[in-house]
Amino acid sequence: MKQIETLLRERIGLDAASIGASVVARLVRLRMKTCGLDRPADYARLLQNSPDEWRQLVEAVVVAETWFFRDRAAFAALVRLVREEWLPRHPVETLRILSLPCSTGEEPYSVAMTLSEAGIEPQRVQIDGADLSAVALARAARAVYGKNSFRGPDLAFRDRHFTATKEGYVLSPAIARQVRFHQINLLGDEWRVEGRGTGDSEPATRRNGETARSPIRRFADSPARPHADPRPSSLTPPYDFIFCRNLLIYFDRATQARALERLGGLLHAEGYLFVGPAELPLVREGGFVPAHLPLAFASCKPGLRRAERETARRRESETGRGRNGEPASGRSRRLADSPIRRLTNAPARPLADSAVGLAEAQALADAGQLEAAAAACEKLLERDGPSAAGYYLLGLVTEARDQEVRNEECGARNSALDTPHPALELYRKALYLEPNHQEALLHAALLLERQGEHTAAVAYRRRAKRASARSQ
Ligand SMILES: C[S@@+](CC[C@H](N)C(=O)[O-])C[C@H]1O[C@@H](n2cnc3c(N)ncnc32)[C@H](O)[C@@H]1O
Repeated sequence: MKQIETLLRERIGLDAASIGASVVARLVRLRMKTCGLDRPADYARLLQNSPDEWRQLVEAVVVAETWFFRDRAAFAALVRLVREEWLPRHPVETLRILSLPCSTGEEPYSVAMTLSEAGIEPQRVQIDGADLSAVALARAARAVYGKNSFRGPDLAFRDRHFTATKEGYVLSPAIARQVRFHQINLLGDEWRVEGRGTGDSEPATRRNGETARSPIRRFADSPARPHADPRPSSLTPPYDFIFCRNLLIYFDRATQARALERLGGLLHAEGYLFVGPAELPLVREGGFVPAHLPLAFASCKPGLRRAERETARRRESETGRGRNGEPASGRSRRLADSPIRRLTNAPARPLADSAVGLAEAQALADAGQLEAAAAACEKLLERDGPSAAGYYLLGLVTEARDQEVRNEECGARNSALDTPHPALELYRKALYLEPNHQEALLHAALLLERQGEHTAAVAYRRRAKRASARSQ
């Protein structure tokens, strides 16, 4: 089995320990049975010689779980950054966004819905979704979804962008055609990042004439294939925003470093990298700088703009006012009229008791109003009684508030914890009520790791994996 684990690590980065060596062994045995083989050594040989069997094994071991607007503060942050930073600097250029890994498409389509509702013209935007799994990409291209793809308290977007049919919820073609899909192994040999990365040297050339491309060797220079069957094709870096969420957690340290180097090469010098909640510390270790966007888990490359960005953002969160001194809620008439406004411009004042629902508490959190969000969660829990969703959100907000304090005190580093984090207790309460709450399991694992409780952290990760397998 070790030989097969090594192959998986070397070729696709999968660290068997991240999902449990026994889980991987079970999946391998299933494949061996299908191939009529008894000995792992024979199967390892087959994998070396048969690209087709290799593909089958990859499809068996990847964790493709995803859903629309997962960690939705990231999408709210995307709109803010596009409107406040990117658009003023790039009045005519194309906004480039990469979702890698995109799995079955929910993430890049959430980006497309978000930007469309914020009034950004589709012609101004290029959204690429990339993943290793051909099966996941085929489902992404089909754009028909079951109920597992819709989670959380606010599903109004489903009514706006999907049609319910016997097969499932069909995404509107207007959104679907905004995303191009590519089959890509982030760690594969078929393309490389050479040198220090695209973004660091070139914004002017790429913006003027769009000819300068990165030092990434592309493996096909085929034209863009809008919303078609996935196959290897070219990415076109540098990207202004990259979503690489819930992939690094499956890699070991060395592979995380390799992956981050490649992502750095794909990201524009002034771009932002969004990762999963459990991955922000890893990204920091890889040299990225936190963007201080609560609950959005975003970071950027180190550079001159960083101080400027942080000052502006702090000023805004302190005063509740935008860059030009306008109240946050009046920054854009178009945005204020759009359904996305609840994501981006939550009410400035805490809500009255009677008005507080989970969606409102989430909107406050998404807008970075952490104290108001915490108060709203507490009210909600008091009024309606314990709920896993309420405790989980309060845990997230507690973590984000703590992180803000740490950032003030000791800069970017995500330090080890000397005492149990108060959010851990909240995640445990959520898990008491809903033992398979995957996100609570992952967050609890991360906090336990920071406390040095590695065995407990691994146990939580395993539970998260089992919960994920059950829900697929
Ligand atoms: C848990 S999903 C994450 C999807 C989405 N980003 C999210 O956060 O909901 C992980 C995805 O990573 C893909 N993946 C695993 N290893 C990869 C690699 N080396 N290169 C590209 N994609 C990979 C899997 O196929 C799977 O679809």
